[in-house]
Amino acid sequence: MSVSTRAISSVESFNDLLQEVDPSQIFVLTDSNTVAHCLPRFEESYLGGTPYSSISVEAGEESKSIEVAEEVWQILIEANADRSSLLISLGGGMITDLGGFVASTYKRGIASLLVPTTHLSMTDAAIGGKTGVNYSELKNQIGTVHDAEGVLVDSTFLETLPHRELKSGFIETVKHGLIADVELWNELRDGDVLSLSKNAELIKRSLLIKDEMAKKDRHDHGIRQALNFGHTVGHALEADAKILHGEAVAFGTVAELFLSHKICALPHEHLVEAVDYLKQNFDVPVDKIDEASLLNKMYNDKKNRNGNIRFTLIPNIGKVKIGINVDEETILESIRFAAVQML
Ligand SMILES: NC(=O)c1ccc[n+]([C@@H]2O[C@H](COP(=O)([O-])OP(=O)(O)OC[C@H]3O[C@@H](n4cnc5c(N)ncnc54)[C@H](O)[C@@H]3O)[C@@H](O)[C@H]2O)c1
Ligand SMILES: [Zn+2]
Repeated sequence: MSVSTRAISSVESFNDLLQEVDPSQIFVLTDSNTVAHCLPRFEESYLGGTPYSSISVEAGEESKSIEVAEEVWQILIEANADRSSLLISLGGGMITDLGGFVASTYKRGIASLLVPTTHLSMTDAAIGGKTGVNYSELKNQIGTVHDAEGVLVDSTFLETLPHRELKSGFIETVKHGLIADVELWNELRDGDVLSLSKNAELIKRSLLIKDEMAKKDRHDHGIRQALNFGHTVGHALEADAKILHGEAVAFGTVAELFLSHKICALPHEHLVEAVDYLKQNFDVPVDKIDEASLLNKMYNDKKNRNGNIRFTLIPNIGKVKIGINVDEETILESIRFAAVQML
């Protein structure tokens, strides 16, 4: 596998990494779920008898904060962690973002190993070098772009992940198929979401698509925006309805498939096929959509320039167009279409 940060998928390559980094101390950062569900397995399968210190924070997005980062810095200082220490972040995207941020800033940067334990973090959050915390109600406001020394992807960690989280994270793999890989999309269409989302081979293909785009565009100015497909409407709904990211993005994907058909000539049969798939496999636990509020959130999104809402759309499965301006009436039409299909 060629990933910009070194991909580790075996105990041997984990041991090689440890030998190369030769850390003075090892710290393992978890949250209150992964400390129970993933740390024992990680210790048994990878660390063996290697000594380490465990740092655990509360599970949940609230822990992705500057205050919690400060607490982790403080623990590292009190443990006399020096420049040669290694911080291993074992958890979902909340932990890999927080741990990656702490590692990239503590003493101007110590070695970082990300061990994602959700489908979303294996195929998205832990790939591409973005780290960070939320600040003052704003997502990912403070952070760095910093490659970890390695990303260890082991799909067996997914066995304890609740099904709702598993399915929600799988939308990123669906997105990768829709924007970049028609064969991947064809395989997804015919399979069962819960078993496919734990499939190591599929996870690898999905993460390579993210990695490829992130590598070409480290700071998000161009092609990386392809990854926003489904997310313009999705992020607005996520903020509005407080549902899981992937559930909101499933709704956003239906709206943006509609726009892709209407504006970029995505063939009608592909629109129908993709919407049917999303309808059957993803739940959007919302009764009613407040379209004015969604629109308002989209206009306030920092990614929109000069008051225009810019979309990433697909003219065909596996193809993408970025930076498409869409007028307000057409956006409303797409939200109404998604609401009829998904609610
Ligand atoms: N850096 C990036 O490029 C990037 C990209 C996408 C998302 N993100 C970030 O990722 C975060 C979302 O990640 P997420 O969806 O993985 O959420 P998460 O890390 O909050 O994990 C979801 C839930 O699952 C639990 N959990 C994790 N692994 C488990 C396991 N194996 N068994 C049982 N429970 C487990 C967690 O404790 C949590 O309760 C957000 O903060 C988002 O901003 C970052
Ligand atoms: Zn996403």
